[in-house]
Amino acid sequence: MKKTLADIDVKGKKVLVRVDYNVPLDANLKITNDKRIMATLPTIEYLLKKNAAIILMSHLGRPKGKVVPEMSLKPVAVRLGEVLGKPVKFVGGDCISAESKKAAKDLKPGQILLLENLRFHSEEEGKNAAGEKDKSSMDAFAKDLASMGEVFVQDAFGTVHRSHASTAGIVKYTKDAAAGFLVEKELKFLGEALEKPVRPFLAILGGAKVSDKINVIENLLGKVDSIIIGGAMAYTFLKAQGVSTGTSLVEDDKLDLALDLLKKAKERKVNFLLPVDHVITNKVDFASKSVPSDAVVETTIDEAIRDGFMGVDIGIKSIEKFAEVVKSAKTIVWNGPLGIFEIDEFSKGTVEIAKMVADATDEGAISVVGGGDSVSAVKKAGVDKRISHISTGGGASLEFLEGKDLPGIAALPDKK
Ligand code: 3PG
Repeated sequence: MKKTLADIDVKGKKVLVRVDYNVPLDANLKITNDKRIMATLPTIEYLLKKNAAIILMSHLGRPKGKVVPEMSLKPVAVRLGEVLGKPVKFVGGDCISAESKKAAKDLKPGQILLLENLRFHSEEEGKNAAGEKDKSSMDAFAKDLASMGEVFVQDAFGTVHRSHASTAGIVKYTKDAAAGFLVEKELKFLGEALEKPVRPFLAILGGAKVSDKINVIENLLGKVDSIIIGGAMAYTFLKAQGVSTGTSLVEDDKLDLALDLLKKAKERKVNFLLPVDHVITNKVDFASKSVPSDAVVETTIDEAIRDGFMGVDIGIKSIEKFAEVVKSAKTIVWNGPLGIFEIDEFSKGTVEIAKMVADATDEGAISVVGGGDSVSAVKKAGVDKRISHISTGGGASLEFLEGKDLPGIAALPDKK
């Protein structure tokens, strides 16, 4: 168990908090979704109550070591100030400039400072100014950041899978460190689901590629009772078993691997469910995310997809088949949509499953949804408030499900 915020002394101290304010911005640099800002409020409000001086650090986008004005964290400082109802100080330009350091030094208890985008420095990601891999530059940058505060709080769940200066490197240069409340909550839900699930334990995995989810499937095969596979990934599993898949997205180089995963599922007595019918079409306009007016859309009678057609959603029989398993599940982990849900005509499967997961949660199941697309899917279905936990981390929650060590967590000290 790692130390958490309640385990460390922050009273009146200068506290450096790594947050993940990698929020979406529109062309006018307006924040279009502030969920990640809102998710850090419990930690910030606790620190304010403890009269700490709070120095927030984050990245935004992938500026690759260059100052990219459109990736400035200024709009975040403004939004956070509005939400908290108190000013959030912000120094532009460079997060470790003399001006930033002075702002940190002058910061009084109860005040908040947000540093500029950490990734304007290539050292944050372990590279020197020339862009070459260089651990000592990363360490020097971590030390510089650490010098601005006394203790470190890791609350950037979305970034804990990165081994960066501000996520892992900084810990050894601060007097004390702990996980913030957001990270603590994410680890509790994801960790308990994987380590002590109430059974039956169901994983629902969707998305385009088997290759993106191989490690997740392998790790979960040793833990779950059932796995539902949807999205284009399902077509690779079906083709591997000799089912015709028409022009569906299939990873031909992963057919053997798919067979191997099916074999492992059988050996481990995991109920491995694939769609038994599909919504198919002969045309999709992926660029405008729409169905051309002359496209033919139909539902298959079984697993097979005819020539010239591609699978784009699970069919009604699959929804009914999956419903039985979802209804009886007591722990549900979901990552990835079951069809091209961004296109309304092909969103039924994902939306219906989202509603079922919410119903199961109302009946007492624990549900954990991770990954940007599945989060959008539960929102589209209007059931996001009924899910036990929606992860703020896309890549991070996936790596957690893969059973990987997350550098930003591993670096934190253990509870005594
Ligand atoms: C995310 O949006 O998933 C996190 O902020 C991490 O961003 P990254 O993939 O650029 O490291």
